[in-house]
Amino acid sequence: MLTNEERTFVAIKPDAVKRGLIGRIIRKIEDKGYKIVALKMLQVDEELAAKHYAEHVGKPFYEGLVRFITSGPIIAMVLQGENAISGIRKFMGKTDPNDAEVGSIRGDFAQVMRYNSIHGSDSKESAEREIGLYFKEEEICDGWETMLEMIMRECEE
Ligand code: RTP
Ligand code: MG
Repeated sequence: MLTNEERTFVAIKPDAVKRGLIGRIIRKIEDKGYKIVALKMLQVDEELAAKHYAEHVGKPFYEGLVRFITSGPIIAMVLQGENAISGIRKFMGKTDPNDAEVGSIRGDFAQVMRYNSIHGSDSKESAEREIGLYFKEEEICDGWETMLEMIMRECEE
């Protein structure tokens, strides 16, 4: 059993979808071993964008952010794993790709702040709220075992 299993919401943003990076980003997520428990492509409309980015309403970059996030489809996912919320944030790299560590998604795949390829929830509260915005409970499939879960089940009391 993982000691601090968390669920987090992750989205591959429209820039990365259009650049053909869906597979490579998901590959990194799978290589790390996070469990993908929900996944779909969807077009975010203004109403959903406003709910998702409610904390940024009124900021100077808000309108551009909404224009971008509604400019093409995203891949929405729920990931599960050990300390997955902070883990995914590290994995994504800093918000500005110029500050993002080499090896992180933004560090490797993005150049410009607005078009930074990936979103991940920044706290437990955000994760719960965002998962609820994008997925119904019955769309989340975690009744299966990853290799890590199997290894841990075999080796632990
Ligand atoms: P995200 O929510 O998309 O995962 O990104 P984040 O937590 O790393 O950054 P956040 O502060 O939540 O900002 C949301 C998105 O808005 C754009 N942004 N532009 N000063 C700016 O021009 C500015 N600040 C933020 C970025 O695209 C960021 O991902
Ligand atoms: Mg954020």
